[in-house]
Amino acid sequence: MKAIYPGSFDPIANGHIDIIERASEFFDEIVVAVMINPKKKYLFSLEERRKLVEDCFHDNKKIKVVTFEGLLVDYMREHHYRVIIRGLRTLTDYGYEAQMALTNKNLYKESETFFIHSEEKYTFLSSSIVREVYFNGGSLSGYIPHHVEKALVEKIQATRSK
Ligand code: PNS
Repeated sequence: MKAIYPGSFDPIANGHIDIIERASEFFDEIVVAVMINPKKKYLFSLEERRKLVEDCFHDNKKIKVVTFEGLLVDYMREHHYRVIIRGLRTLTDYGYEAQMALTNKNLYKESETFFIHSEEKYTFLSSSIVREVYFNGGSLSGYIPHHVEKALVEKIQATRSK
């Protein structure tokens, strides 16, 4: 069975990678769907986010990366996917995640959301924390892949020189 792991990934961090790799042990294929959350303003474009995700998984044939603009359930219906994977870090995530899982279920009855708890060392980590630390000159090496760190530094420099 295939499963879809949707998210913004602005940018992808090691906590996401951990969830994807752990999920891939239980499914034949994990489709990482880089999407648009209408509530967010993005640092990286959709294509840049896709490329940063793809560059994490060249060695893993079970992981495929796609982009989609629109409702997640429309993509799932079209490709006959039923399982959505989402990571859960803390209780604070739960309200938002439950709302999303129930909305997706209402829109597409055949779907099920599976939650995977993040590893303890990643419970504080989010893409917004990563962006904030780098914007202010800090470093989170060990929490994001090297190529993501490089892209982040370049993006922030480019944003500042505008
Ligand atoms: O990483 P994020 O921002 O928490 O991911 C949220 C995302 C992109 C998975 C969610 O906003 C989404 O599914 N967007 C596509 C539009 C959609 O289907 N919305 C209905 C679900 S509430």
